[in-house]
Amino acid sequence: MMKLHAAPLTALSFSCLFVLLLSILTVGFDDRLQADDPPLSLLKTALQQEQKPEEMKSLRVRAGAPFKIALFADLHFGENAWTDWGPQQDVNSVKVMSSVLDDESPDFVIYLGDVITANNIPIANASLYWDEAISPTRARGIPWASIFGNHDDAPFEWPLAWFSSPGIPPIHCPAPNASSCSGERYCSFGGTRRIELMKKEIENNLLTLSKTGPKDLWPSISNYVLQLSSSDDPESPVLFMYFFDSGGGSYPEVISNAQAEWFQHVSEEINPDSRY
Ligand SMILES: *[C@@H]1O[C@H](CO)[C@@H](O)[C@H](O)[C@H]1NC(C)=O
Ligand SMILES: *[C@@H]1O[C@H](CO)[C@@H](O)[C@H](O)[C@H]1NC(C)=O
Repeated sequence: MMKLHAAPLTALSFSCLFVLLLSILTVGFDDRLQADDPPLSLLKTALQQEQKPEEMKSLRVRAGAPFKIALFADLHFGENAWTDWGPQQDVNSVKVMSSVLDDESPDFVIYLGDVITANNIPIANASLYWDEAISPTRARGIPWASIFGNHDDAPFEWPLAWFSSPGIPPIHCPAPNASSCSGERYCSFGGTRRIELMKKEIENNLLTLSKTGPKDLWPSISNYVLQLSSSDDPESPVLFMYFFDSGGGSYPEVISNAQAEWFQHVSEEINPDSRY
């Protein structure tokens, strides 16, 4: 489910992702992100902190231009990594995203989940694929945010194709300690968890506005709010973007009561009487 009032580009799948962009002042999108105010590094520092609505810094719009948001959903990087087809799709996806970004010059990009196909990725560091998926946006200096779909930290599934002539590949235990790996089932390959994916994205990138979400909602991770502010006043919101982790992979496919309560609590605090 998704509500979005200001996206010229939509390549969406509604399968497992929720972005709820709550309402907008009619005049809110006359503007464009300002390149120099506030500096994105400061913005990022502020946004990294535990989310306290009253301290929430924001994206800004610039007078006289529309604020454009590009959505990239279901990119599925790392799919069929053992064939030529899979890696070629990733190359193609980078090309398509690059063209879209060059043609549309969006102010903000949202990676709407299923960025990678973790159940196809047999390496421990799936952030390498995640990184490839966000690279076109980063290369153009555009800020972005990401949330999870149900494939982003799904456990690896051995492809049937591997059980033919080349033989069966070895199973690697995630922890090298023999004692912690007493039975074969403990040695199945779990891949990179959503918390690790998100932490790596945040640590390695100045332009990301993604958050790991309130700890009391973990292991549901990508639950956070971003504010888009007016050009005149950085405190004055024109749009709130609520991001939800709808689960899947290492976590059940749910929006939990706890997430719903979090949403209610935060929205009452930052947007009392639904003014925006
Ligand atoms: C995993 O990938 C990320 C993103 O490319 C990189 O920054 C990080 O250093 C990698 N970690 C390891 C252990 O290779
Ligand atoms: C594995 O062993 C090393 C040293 O023997 C230890 O420091 C580490 O905490 C162990 N890891 C786990 C997951 O048990």
